[in-house]
Amino acid sequence: MKISVIGCGYLGAVHAATLAAMGHTVVGIDVDSAKIDQLSRGTAPFYEPGLDELLVEGLSTGRLHFSASMAAAAEAEVHFLCVGTPQSKTSNDADLSYLFAATAALVPYLAEGAAVVGKSTVPVGTVMLLRSVLADRKDVPLGWNPEFLRQGTAVKDSLVPDRLVYGVAGGRDASLDATGHAHGLTAVLDAVYEPLLRAGIPRLVCAYATAELIKSAANAYLATKISFINAMSELCDASGADVTELGEAMGLDPRIGGRYLHAGLGFGGGCLPKDIRSFRAQAAALDVDSVDQWMGVVDAINLAQRHRTVEIARELCGGSVRGQAVTVLGAAFKPDTDDIRDSPALDVALQLATLGAQVTVTDPKALPNAAMRYPQLRFVQSTDVALAGADLVLLLTEWDEYRQLVPADVGLKVRRRTMVDARNVLHAAEWEAAGWHIRGLGTGTAGRGTLARERTLGAPASSAVRAF
Ligand code: UDX
Repeated sequence: MKISVIGCGYLGAVHAATLAAMGHTVVGIDVDSAKIDQLSRGTAPFYEPGLDELLVEGLSTGRLHFSASMAAAAEAEVHFLCVGTPQSKTSNDADLSYLFAATAALVPYLAEGAAVVGKSTVPVGTVMLLRSVLADRKDVPLGWNPEFLRQGTAVKDSLVPDRLVYGVAGGRDASLDATGHAHGLTAVLDAVYEPLLRAGIPRLVCAYATAELIKSAANAYLATKISFINAMSELCDASGADVTELGEAMGLDPRIGGRYLHAGLGFGGGCLPKDIRSFRAQAAALDVDSVDQWMGVVDAINLAQRHRTVEIARELCGGSVRGQAVTVLGAAFKPDTDDIRDSPALDVALQLATLGAQVTVTDPKALPNAAMRYPQLRFVQSTDVALAGADLVLLLTEWDEYRQLVPADVGLKVRRRTMVDARNVLHAAEWEAAGWHIRGLGTGTAGRGTLARERTLGAPASSAVRAF
């Protein structure tokens, strides 16, 4: 099939490359010509494992192209809308201006019989609004096909997704003809995803509103799980329990499951934070207070983890970080990406710098992005150089190379053997055996320091609750 993918960011670039890998002829379109030049050379404009290889493969077969001109979409039978829907600068709402602008720009190039399918994460009701942009093209079917890929594993998530969701006019019942076969837009999408369906990937057809909500609800649930275990981590610090063991034991119950139950510095990135805020705004607009309040608590618990980490750093520095040499391991919002959008690590680094610490940040991939965004911090590429002379080390993004650090070796580089493992990935006993004073978030290490033993279960309200 001939397909256009409009918007070549984290979502669109991966989608274009994977559709080409499935055998389609694909053109990726973006208004950013520097990005298009880079993609046309087979290099992703961001770090995503496996994507460069897929781009090179697609370009070499001649099935994958990129263009900065919407006119390049003219021959496509299916157009996928993959532009960003960031948080509005003034509210919790998603900013849909790129989506409307891209759709309006596409209209003159829609061939007869072509279909338009959105993939971006949008608030419920967006498809109906977008229909008005296509008011003069009532012949063009419009669908929503939300994307669930994670950065860092985006290629695998796209080639072997957990499920495919199609939001179509009339929903599931309207997707079948009288003989029970898929027809209309459902049949078009089945043809696009034929290799995935053949491999047994489940596909769900539903109405627009459901398709729009599935993505938001899934992200809200993941965020809820993370904030739940992070709230437990505070309870663990207050009581002397260990949240890692708690999460492991809870996760062995198949009704709960262990994934997204890892306590620590919490979630960040370009999706979960803005999606739960957009979800709040959607719920509030629909007068569903429970969801609005629920997401507010999830967001507050998440942000409180950053504050807790700063407080632990202060405590380990004797009450103030002013003048202390602090080394931050990790700048990306999570490992295996160079994305620093709403990075918890950089948030903590910035807070410590604001409190007067001399902060040095290192990261295997994200330093160019971080340095551009935060010129006030010191960035050092080499881990060894970054660690030299540190009074305090904070592990804030759990890249493999930080998980594998050898306590005795690191001990030779720093000035004081003091570590905050805010991702709860280091083996505390090993670090302690090498003379380190190490603290996690809810891992029982607080009890080996000064805080938890002095606390009782009736002690003052938690920081998460205080935060809102
Ligand atoms: C997320 C969703 O997983 C994906 O389905 C959706 O399409 C986009 O949003 P992503 O933002 O790439 O994907 O990150 P993800 O791997 O889900 O992690 C989100 C954040 O949660 C990261 O900051 C991560 O460090 C944190 N996290 C994850 C935890 O703190 N604990 C966990 O147990 C899991």
